[in-house]
Parts: sequence; C-alpha cells; structure tokens
Amino acid sequence: MSLKAKKTLAVSQDFGNLEHVQSASQICLPTRWITAEMRNHDVFAIFDGDEQIQILPVVQDGEVVGLINRERFMGTMAGRFHWEIYSKKRCTKMMDHDPLVVDAATSIAEVANQLLHLGEHQALPESFIIADKGTFQGTGYTSDVLATLLRQQQAAVAELQTHRDTLSATVRERTYDLELAKLAAEHANQAKSEFLANMSHELRTPLHAVLAMAGMGSQKSGEAPREKLAKYFSVINESAERLARLVSNLLDISAFEAGSIVLNPTLIDLNHLPARVFAELASLADQGSVALHFTPGAPAPYLGDAERLHQVIRNVVGNALKYSPKGSDILIQLETIPPEPDGGYCLHIVDHGPGIPVSELEHIFARFTQSTQTNTGAGGSGLGLPICREIMRLHGGQIVASNHPEGGACFTISFPPVRVGR
Ligand SMILES: Nc1ncnc2c1ncn2[C@@H]1O[C@H](COP(=O)(O)OP(=O)(O)O)[C@@H](O)[C@H]1O
Ligand SMILES: [Mg+2]
Repeated sequence: MSLKAKKTLAVSQDFGNLEHVQSASQICLPTRWITAEMRNHDVFAIFDGDEQIQILPVVQDGEVVGLINRERFMGTMAGRFHWEIYSKKRCTKMMDHDPLVVDAATSIAEVANQLLHLGEHQALPESFIIADKGTFQGTGYTSDVLATLLRQQQAAVAELQTHRDTLSATVRERTYDLELAKLAAEHANQAKSEFLANMSHELRTPLHAVLAMAGMGSQKSGEAPREKLAKYFSVINESAERLARLVSNLLDISAFEAGSIVLNPTLIDLNHLPARVFAELASLADQGSVALHFTPGAPAPYLGDAERLHQVIRNVVGNALKYSPKGSDILIQLETIPPEPDGGYCLHIVDHGPGIPVSELEHIFARFTQSTQTNTGAGGSGLGLPICREIMRLHGGQIVASNHPEGGACFTISFPPVRVGR
C-alpha cells in the first residue's frame, strides 16, 4: 500500500462527525505494538506480514519508548549488507527515540499546536502516540488532526455565514416593517387632515345656514310675511337635520371602529323596507320630480336588524335621489336568489343619474370619499356608504356598486340566506 493510500485510510476512519471531535482520544486508532527486546528480523516479519501496519510503537514496562516507522525501517533493511548487520540487533536501534506522545485528553487544537512546534525546521510527523496517563493507547494520525481542524473551521464559517444571512434578513424585515409603519403613519396623518377639512366644511355650511336664517328671522319677525318666515324655519330645520345626520354618522363610524355596534335582529319582511324609505323621502323626491318605483313581491322573511337595514336603504336611495336628474325615476327590485327559500335575497336600487366611474366603484365605500363624477362641492360627508357596508358585513351580507347598462348607478345589497329559526 502506498503512503498516499495509507493517509486516505487514516482520514477515512469512522470517527463519527469530525465537527464533534474534541480530544485526541476520539481519533485514537488501536495499534499493534512491540516490546523493546524484539529483534529487527521479527519487526521485519511483522511489517512484511501486514502491509497495513505503518508504525510500530516500542513499549517497555507499559510505556512507549519509541516508534518504528515502516518506510524508514524497510528502507534501511533493504540492502543485504544492512540486513546482515541489523537483523539480529534490538529493534530499539532502529526506532525514533523521541516520538510525540500526547495525552488522550489533549484537545485537538493543542495536539495540532504540539505537532507544529516539534522543531522549527522539522517536517510534520505522520503520526504520534496517544497515551492515557502514560499508558499506551494507540496511534493518532496528523492527517486526522488536520482534517478535524479543517472540518471544524468550515462548520464555524458556515455557521457565521448563516448567522450573517439571518441577520441581514432580519434587518431587511425590520426595515420593511418600519417602512410600512411610516407609510401607515403618513396615511393616517393625511386621513386626519382630510377628515378635519371635510368635517369643518360639513359642520360650517349647515351651521351658517341656521345662524343666518335664525338671525334674519328674529330681525324681521315683526315685518316679514308669514311665507318668508316659514322659509327661514324650513332652512333651519333642513340644516339642523343635516347636522344631526352628520353627528349620528360620526357616532356610527366611531362605534364600528370600536366594534361596539350590536345588531338587534328580528324576523322582518324585506318588502317593507323600501316602502318605509319611500314614505320618508317622498317630499324630497317630489321636489326633484323624481319617481320612486317598488312593487312588493312574495313575502321575503329575513332575520335582521330592521333599523340598521332601513338606514342602509335610506342612504342608498337618498344618494340616488341626490344625483337623479329632474323627471327621472328610481327603481327598486327585490330578487329572491334560487334555490328558494335558501338562497337569500338581493335588493337592486337603480337610478338614472351620472353613474360612477368604473375605477371608483369600490373606492366610494371608503370613508370621506366621493366619486370624481359628483364631487362638485355640493356637500356630503362620504360616510354613508362605509356605514352601509359595515352594517351589511355584520349581517353576513354585502353591498356593491355597478353601473346600469342604460346609464345610472346600480347598488346591489345582498342578504345571505336566513338560517336562524329554520
Ligand atoms: N347613486 C349614485 N350615483 C352616483 N354617485 C353616487 C351614488 N351614490 C353614491 N355615489 C358616490 O359615492 C359617494 C359616497 O357616498 P356616501 O358614502 O353616501 O357619502 P355622501 O352621500 O355623504 O357623499 C358620493 O359622494 C358619490 O360620489
Ligand atoms: Mg350618502
């Protein structure tokens, strides 16, 4: 076996995972040893009989006194001349008298240290003796020490790299989170500014109207004709109602935000909702010459909060009225979703107003938002639809906007199937 092959054999010994090798004892290979009395021809016979044996420790009284290296020994013994001289001599003549002996408990790093400092100009020995408190244990190979150190260093570098990768991923994540938080804070700040601007406008307009009409009314109460005074009162009434609606919408929004809205469900017939809203908005519709159409159908039993659902339909029909041209009509249809009676219901509210730009169909459900088609400064808090959506969400239903093929907006309110009580 060649020297190279032997080294390969030494490193490939199964010492387990080299990363976990701590001390010399873990790379110790049991080795055949000989006594100091042995003659060279016997040593020759041992080497000759087993090519695997590379070194033979020489032991006297249990202690290693030297080391015979196969290559050097066989080289010296190769010539007949040498053979005759040396064969009968004691093996101690041929041994290295000062081999490196390390204690089994010595750490691998320390063994490497000792190997490197054997002699400044001396080549690294191939092997060394491992003893346990002076008693021979076996042989250690320098290649195993180096392989162990190398593997441990590789593991440390890999661990460092993983740590560095994790660290940079964490930093990236944190930076991203901070960016998000910053964006959210900026967004919140902008929303707050928009809210204040909207609210001051929404509050000031009706308040000014109330103050102006009340002022004029009291100044002219003695002289103004009754119709004029009635007009002042009606403006005051309308403005106060607008203010009351705004305040109640604001209260609703903050209650939804706090999650404190609780539904009060009762069994209702959905056919009754449009009729009640129409009755309330009849005079407004008359003023704009807008006709409201709804034909009640078969009973549509539904378990829901009658007041909250009324609020939804009132807001949607109120919006439709606001944007409907004179002389047009608003149609409400109640549809039963098959299979009856388990499919639920849909209420469609269709007008002939300007409709809603397609890209804003969803956006109008955000708070304080008006469509670019209608934000003409005519007023509106932009709170109605977000409240409608919250109410429908609490019912397990939904509200969406679309445009009617013949023009105008179409709002569809879906009521999920009634399960309670069935
Ligand atoms: N029927 C409709 N036709 C056209 N635009 C509508 C209609 N209904 C709602 N919108 C748009 O949606 C916006 C939001 O409505 P809403 O939340 O009820 O607030 P507000 O009525 O206070 O403006 C309205 O300002 C308007 O731009
Ligand atoms: Mg509205």
